[in-house]
Amino acid sequence: MTPEQNNTLTGVGKGTPMGELLRRYWHPISLSADFKTERVKKVKLLGEELALYRDKSGNLGLVDKRCAHRGASLEYAIIDTVGIRCAYHGWKYDAQGKCLDRPNEPENDPGKARICLKSYPVLERGEMIFAYLGPAPVPEFPMFDLYRTGNFVKTIGYAEVPVNWLQIMENSLDPVHVEWLHGHFYTQEKGSSEPPFDTFSKHHVKIGFDEFEYGIIKRRLLEGQREEESTDWTTGHPMIFPNMLLVGDTRVHQFQIRVPVDDKTTMHYWYNCFHPAEGVEIPKDYPTSSYEVPIRDEKGDYIKDYVDGQDIMMWESQGEIYDRTLEHLASSDRGIVQYRRMLAREIEKMNKGQDPMCVFRAPGPIALPVEESRHGLKAGAFLNHTHSRDYRFAPNIEEIVRILSASPTESRRKTPESAYPPAESVAAPIQS
Ligand code: FES
Ligand SMILES: [Fe+2]
Repeated sequence: MTPEQNNTLTGVGKGTPMGELLRRYWHPISLSADFKTERVKKVKLLGEELALYRDKSGNLGLVDKRCAHRGASLEYAIIDTVGIRCAYHGWKYDAQGKCLDRPNEPENDPGKARICLKSYPVLERGEMIFAYLGPAPVPEFPMFDLYRTGNFVKTIGYAEVPVNWLQIMENSLDPVHVEWLHGHFYTQEKGSSEPPFDTFSKHHVKIGFDEFEYGIIKRRLLEGQREEESTDWTTGHPMIFPNMLLVGDTRVHQFQIRVPVDDKTTMHYWYNCFHPAEGVEIPKDYPTSSYEVPIRDEKGDYIKDYVDGQDIMMWESQGEIYDRTLEHLASSDRGIVQYRRMLAREIEKMNKGQDPMCVFRAPGPIALPVEESRHGLKAGAFLNHTHSRDYRFAPNIEEIVRILSASPTESRRKTPESAYPPAESVAAPIQS
């Protein structure tokens, strides 16, 4: 790969090929829990610095962070009934970026009509706030089944990872790393060969990658598995174009969403839906919890004793923007090659004026294939190994396991007394 090709694949800024492709999609920029009432904060998405706010009327707005007057940051704005005022001299803006008032100018102030900040559409779905930074017409929000509500519990983890988005995505097209990083390395870390660690070490006999309507299905067959009996092979797990992975198990469905903050930073969301045992009812209005996934411990070392921490360590070890001119791809990297070709193909389509893959023009639910078990473990096993996943950091994970595992009669009889703190006290992600 040439340096130019690497730049094309990794750069997310406005006007760059990948930056323009990624602007065709809705991206999460905050948790809803963080914006239940009026508030303003700075966010950064695809290299653009913005101010996200909810005004006193309950409207969300996303505008340029810099005030048009003399450039003060609107992250410190005064929140108005409709819109926000810059804290420096009180210029007022609405959600379309229109200047509504310049309080120290003469009455009628004809000049304000010429002032308009850059602004972008925002919406709330699945307890997150999403933004669209691309050209009109604005596409439909992709209503994947995980974003709906139902008889399941959600947790949302997040971590700001100081690396380019592409090396995180390439991990999702790389099945064999599981056997080494989450298998042999994990076993070394634990000093143990007890399950599930020896399961992750199982050798990949076969891997497969199939393009489907929404991306690429990644398949693996491990030693001891039979093709027709293993959902690792028959269902696989899908990479949702361009920047998501869906990981399954009968009890836990997880989106991993890789949001490019800028060329060297990615906000990683783990969006988890936990499904109860047959017949168990989730207490009404049970809250979605949120939590920061720490990358390092108090000594500054990587937290290496769980799957996501091991992945993060590898992504960071490749460098902020991995220099792909130095790589030596092998046959087991063919999923990565297929994904890069797909990115290039969709950029081409966009340049010809067509919608790239997963830009939706009609509303409606989108069902995705999701495996019932993986890595040869029993269906539902991931609920019993919460320590090995990001959700070990959820403040209420033990309570969730208790609720989900209750007997059907027990779940109807009582609502558990919640030890889980209210959403306001949970730290919120800051994309800055
Ligand atoms: S800099 Fe914002 S009103 Fe003056
Ligand atoms: Fe991994």
